[in-house]
Amino acid sequence: MLERAIGVIDSGVGGITVVLELMRQLPHEQLIYLGDTKRCPYGPRKETQVIQFTWEMVNFLLQKNIKALVVACNTATAFALPQLQKKLPIPVVGVVQPGARAAIKSTKNNQVGVIGTEGTIRSQAYVQALKKINAQIDIQSLACPEFVPMIEKGHIAGEKIENIVETSLKPLKTSIQMDTLILGCTHYPLIKRTIQKVMGHDVTLVSSSEETARETSTILDVHHLLYEGIRTPQHTFYTTGDLKQFENILTTIFEQEYVEQIHRYDIHKIDLTKQSHHI
Ligand code: DGL
Repeated sequence: MLERAIGVIDSGVGGITVVLELMRQLPHEQLIYLGDTKRCPYGPRKETQVIQFTWEMVNFLLQKNIKALVVACNTATAFALPQLQKKLPIPVVGVVQPGARAAIKSTKNNQVGVIGTEGTIRSQAYVQALKKINAQIDIQSLACPEFVPMIEKGHIAGEKIENIVETSLKPLKTSIQMDTLILGCTHYPLIKRTIQKVMGHDVTLVSSSEETARETSTILDVHHLLYEGIRTPQHTFYTTGDLKQFENILTTIFEQEYVEQIHRYDIHKIDLTKQSHHI
């Protein structure tokens, strides 16, 4: 039971930024990751489609007998988290609330920026999460639709990236005097250095990874699901898209080689009305 893996999902490689933190905070837990790179980005898609795709990913991981699920995608969290938490028999952790908490901890002037996909920004999930903690907070939100496709192609540094980031973030520099910027998409920490350079060093960048891993650890503990022994876990990574491209990006992110543990999974449509855990 406790040996079972924690499932982690994202639309692509972004969730790996959460995986890195899970590995650091929970070094003996085994992880199974699924990135739906074939259908990435989720950001511009309709809510109903994001929900459908998310359930299809979850369905695969349930077959792997996971003991908990981390939705390491802000867009999927924004649209599907409440129903996943309600309908799944295992604990489910999202990334929006942990990200909001990290921002509240960081801000000194209560002026916070949020960048994310079009879906995440449109859902107002961060605005609601932040306001719930502190109603006085000033928030400026901005969708950056160009970032995810660029990162998925493995472009994470260089002059061209800097120009795109600079142009995309321009609207943030004109209104509130934010001291904290939430990277409200799990892909964005992969271009953190460039975002920091563009925003300047007076702005603290926060991502949900650390808080999400902390919340996962607490929830596993509360449910008596933590692996208590010592082991070197064998993590497994699945992509629904191009294996070589996924391997290349993972090799860039991890210092360690995981090539033997990376596989392709052909995602298939499910009829949500026929899912027992979905009814
Ligand atoms: N990493 C996903 C997120 O956090 C990216 C969404 C997308 O595919 O556009 O929102």
